[in-house]
Amino acid sequence: MAANVLDWTDSWFEKLDSESKADSAGSIAARFSGEVAAGKLPFCSMPFMAELLHELDGLEDYVKSFDHMLLLGIGGSALGARALQKAFFPQQDQPCHNGPWLWIADNVCAKTLDAYLEKLPLGKTLVAVVSKSGGTIETISQYFLVREKMQEALGNRWNRNTIFITDKEKGFLREQADELNIRTLEVPDNLGGRYSVLSAVGLLPAMFLGIDYRALVEGAAAVLSPLASSNLNADSLRNHPSFKLACWGSTLMDKGYNELIFFSYVPQWACFGQWFAQLWAESLGKEGKGSQPIPAVGATDQHSVNQMFLDGPRNKGCLFLTCPSLPQGMPFPDALPEKFSYLKGQNFGELIHAEGLGTKMALSANKVPLVEMKMVSDNEEAAGRLMGLLMAATIFTGWLMEINPIDQPAVEMGKLLAKAKLGASGLEREKESLSSFLSTKREVQDF
Ligand code: PA5
Repeated sequence: MAANVLDWTDSWFEKLDSESKADSAGSIAARFSGEVAAGKLPFCSMPFMAELLHELDGLEDYVKSFDHMLLLGIGGSALGARALQKAFFPQQDQPCHNGPWLWIADNVCAKTLDAYLEKLPLGKTLVAVVSKSGGTIETISQYFLVREKMQEALGNRWNRNTIFITDKEKGFLREQADELNIRTLEVPDNLGGRYSVLSAVGLLPAMFLGIDYRALVEGAAAVLSPLASSNLNADSLRNHPSFKLACWGSTLMDKGYNELIFFSYVPQWACFGQWFAQLWAESLGKEGKGSQPIPAVGATDQHSVNQMFLDGPRNKGCLFLTCPSLPQGMPFPDALPEKFSYLKGQNFGELIHAEGLGTKMALSANKVPLVEMKMVSDNEEAAGRLMGLLMAATIFTGWLMEINPIDQPAVEMGKLLAKAKLGASGLEREKESLSSFLSTKREVQDF
């Protein structure tokens, strides 16, 4: 069977001297093996998977007895599910869809939440609250409001329509689950949100929609198992595409390429760009280092941000996603105006490949180092491979940059200030900063 490929031809791998990064393959392989053995990289070794798949089997009838799933979660607790939904369950955005429906509430939007609670038939809705920490304010605040409506609508049976995906021991959601007898699935230890799509976090909503979640896992495992193997060494790591991507990505940063485009020419996979953007940005934006991920989708963004990619600052690299086997679509009719007659005998689906090729060549001509990720299929197995590849590449990039790709300390400040603004106890320092900030005279201008 043909394989997915990374096409390095236009990457400038040699010109950038990315190969020099591979000198550290031996020490990185040893470190990776040590962390896998210590259970610190469960996205790769998946020690939880057999039990999870068993649990999902047992839950399938129950989960599929609902017409709607309302997922409350944010960041890594939502973006993977949305990418899978848009890629493998496009029906929900198409005319005459007749269920099931997945609604992902991953923002603080009173209008949207009001609409969900006014319109969803709560008796036929499974509320899935997804939070590794079990305390994220955007998620928990929605939970309080949804819980009240559920109690009003369903009485003391409301908890039958609720499931939590959270840490096995810690956090507010875990306490709630114990106290209110709510069904749970675990987010395994050491599995941060942006690395959790192939845990219950992404797989439960995928199962609800009838997505082949086992194929996703198989695809990821095919890419990740050589890394999780105790035989990993300098040579096998050097030959692994995720490591080569990391060598390339980190050299680009060293050479001042501080933006990384994720250009998807698989239109229904556009949200993998959002998923990747969070993975890359939250993992690698540390200590003044990193590159800003920019999700884009062809052909739409050819008529939007592409001008900047092509002729703006020469500070961008590009991951370029294609799939030559996308469906051909309808043939064009024979009766076409002369100036469009070149379309005769072709199918609509050929346009996306031609436009992808044109854009890829234009990016290269405009000095954008580019790696094409050419997928053999746009099925779940292929998506699992892509996600496994990108998660591993992100970890290796972080290690080559000598930062920690697992934490996200800088995002705490804004969260604490928001809590202080809402009157949370303690947080004296934040309250002082707030009052100084709010008492500063603002320079404003009407428009
Ligand atoms: O990737 C991450 O770790 C974060 O984006 C989290 O997913 C996000 O902050 C939500 O956290 P939690 O799942 O604890 O609610």
